[in-house]
Amino acid sequence: MSVLITGGAGFIGSHTAVEFMNAGYDVVIMDNFSNSKPVVLDRIKEITGKDFKFYKADLLDAAALDRIFEENPEIDSCIHFAGLKAVGESVSMPIEYYHNNVTGSLILCDSMRRHGVKTIVFSSSATVYGAPDEVPIKESARVGNATNPYGETKVMIERILKDIYVSDKEWNISVLRYFNPVGAHASGLIGEDPNGIPNNLMPYITKVALGKLPQLSVFGNDYDTHDGTGVRDYIHVVDLAKAHLKALEYIKSAHGIDYFNIGTGNGYSVLDMVKAYEQVTGLKVNYKIVGRRPGDVASCYADPSKAERVLGWKAEYGIVEMCRDANRWQTKNPNGYDS
Ligand code: WQD
Repeated sequence: MSVLITGGAGFIGSHTAVEFMNAGYDVVIMDNFSNSKPVVLDRIKEITGKDFKFYKADLLDAAALDRIFEENPEIDSCIHFAGLKAVGESVSMPIEYYHNNVTGSLILCDSMRRHGVKTIVFSSSATVYGAPDEVPIKESARVGNATNPYGETKVMIERILKDIYVSDKEWNISVLRYFNPVGAHASGLIGEDPNGIPNNLMPYITKVALGKLPQLSVFGNDYDTHDGTGVRDYIHVVDLAKAHLKALEYIKSAHGIDYFNIGTGNGYSVLDMVKAYEQVTGLKVNYKIVGRRPGDVASCYADPSKAERVLGWKAEYGIVEMCRDANRWQTKNPNGYDS
């Protein structure tokens, strides 16, 4: 049996492909390289010492998806990462985000159905909770008031998957709601490589520390948090990748549809992350406090107890490993995959 990984050349997808291959799975990766580079495929092979099939294909290309399933009848499940994911960009490009993410997921699920593949692990996001009513956040928390089109696409795709399951109970669906993925594989061969100026905190910090960017802007220090800056649940990308293994194994045996918050349960502020990064790396992170970023919430972190109880998964890496591994990746790849 093998697993189709859509978006498998991306940040989380590539780390997940490594964990699946190391666990003995055969994988088929598809990616359109809209937010990744072909060299990632070589890095995955270098890390694992194993080969895999790859298709350069777009989620919106139904014929290409059909060809993947027809040429690989041994595919029995799919880990679905492919999608546009920049929060700020989604506000200015809603049509592209809804079309690519939502229509693309519908096309994927239709092709899976027609080829008898009804097991999927979906890459969702804590953004579906919007501004949480309370923290830590449980899976039972209200979903649906996402503060941006990107988050809304995740809400919609979760709804589509639920309705697919209601229509056909043969589907096995795990929905993973990620908190804030950071860090990199210990080899430093794969990591986070955002296009252009990073939107997210950690890749911004790593570039400032290396002098690739002049200064970090801290978006507000007047939130109701211990130091006034935004609090998030940062999770090591390798821990996150391993959660997909557990989620697939679980849903294949338990069947049905289920939802899991994938976080550490620990909330760190922006300044906590800056201080930790400086302590771990010995590098200086030059920053200034500026105004709040529209759409940000004060505090967002997970209650990860359901994933631990049901999946037998718990994050193993802490803030030190996250900073250490992010720095190693950036130091070895100062210009990301263009280095
Ligand atoms: C974290 C904290 C910012 C940049 C988003 C998506 C989420 C997921 C992760 C895709 C906040 C502060 C940031 C900077 C800063 N993406 N910050 N200066 O917004 O929690 O989550 O990315 O799945 O779905 O919503 O992550 O890293 O952008 O921000 O002060 O230059 O860092 O205000 O408090 P966020 P982030």
